[in-house]
Amino acid sequence: MQDSETIDQIDDTPIARAAQAAVQAIGRAGEGLPRPAATRVIVVANQKGGVGKTTTTVNLAASLAMHGLRVLVIDLDPQGNASTALGIDHHAEVPSIYDVLVEGKPLADVVQPVVDVEGLFCCPATIDLAGAEIELVSLVARESRLQRAIAAYEQPLDYILIDCPPSLGLLTVNALVAGQEVLIPIQCEYYALEGLGQLLRNVELVRAHLNPALHVSTILLTMYDARTRLAAQVAEEVRTHFQQEVLHTAIPRSVRISEAPSYGQTVLTYDPGSTGALSYLEAARELAMRAVGVGGTTGSLVGQQRDGQQNGRPQGGGETGHGAPMAQHGTTEGNR
Ligand SMILES: Nc1ncnc2c1ncn2[C@@H]1O[C@H](COP(=O)(O)OP(=O)(O)OP(=O)(O)O)[C@@H](O)[C@H]1O
Ligand SMILES: [Mg+2]
Repeated sequence: MQDSETIDQIDDTPIARAAQAAVQAIGRAGEGLPRPAATRVIVVANQKGGVGKTTTTVNLAASLAMHGLRVLVIDLDPQGNASTALGIDHHAEVPSIYDVLVEGKPLADVVQPVVDVEGLFCCPATIDLAGAEIELVSLVARESRLQRAIAAYEQPLDYILIDCPPSLGLLTVNALVAGQEVLIPIQCEYYALEGLGQLLRNVELVRAHLNPALHVSTILLTMYDARTRLAAQVAEEVRTHFQQEVLHTAIPRSVRISEAPSYGQTVLTYDPGSTGALSYLEAARELAMRAVGVGGTTGSLVGQQRDGQQNGRPQGGGETGHGAPMAQHGTTEGNR
């Protein structure tokens, strides 16, 4: 009796819990996820800064790769944060996405393997990219240069994740023209939904004029802090407006997630047993399984419904029907 109590107590220590979670995470990572029928090109976008675009891009990409898929991250932000987080050098001389977009260099010439994670590749961004928004203006097919580069890339890939800068300029437009799916990370904070209508209208514009396949397939709640009422309120509001798109898994606020980039790592390699790593593994699993839910095609369930009934949501506001009511969420609780 006493022995089993002692064992229970040991099992319940933080270290034991972490070890157990690590074993579980590594075990599940090895299980494998279904391969999409064709490469899924997912644009991670939100013009609001600091909402977790880069963190989501690199950690989802690593999670998918750790499940045995082949994944390319395209860093489309001059800050080069995704490149840093994946341990890829991105000083000014490194061949980068700038050379692809502005100089017409093949993507294959700039893609690098990520050392820690098999099956994961990165196209880095350097500071040169800061000038690309202006340089692209005078170039031929300025909106579709990334799409052309991806189409010419012959390596077999299951996923391409594009990390966008916090703006809706030509770089983001290039991503929207190149992808089929948009993934929007939403931070569970005050003003979380501000500006979202504008992003959704841009997605509609690109879909109408340049890329009929484009749709918002996924919304991911990030930096969720279960201790605050505000986070729960924001999450509830987002889930009400985007019933189909929001992943069940929300990413918790986690020190491990924020520490990992300074070691040039994703949280999946930095601390595989942490809640942050587990939540990204679970979100990646959901993302991958959703596509299978419609018969292994590259389109999502959400996209198919959207073409018909817009998921039964009211249609007022902008072209998307998401516009006006969401420009600001209605909580009165201040920042905490
Ligand atoms: N779940 C999380 N828990 C704790 N910190 C996080 C989490 N997700 C992101 N962060 C931290 O929040 C900050 C912003 O995240 P990130 O760089 O991913 O956002 P972003 O949308 O890409 O920003 P930008 O708009 O500047 O490109 C970073 O310092 C990151 O480490
Ligand atoms: Mg970023």
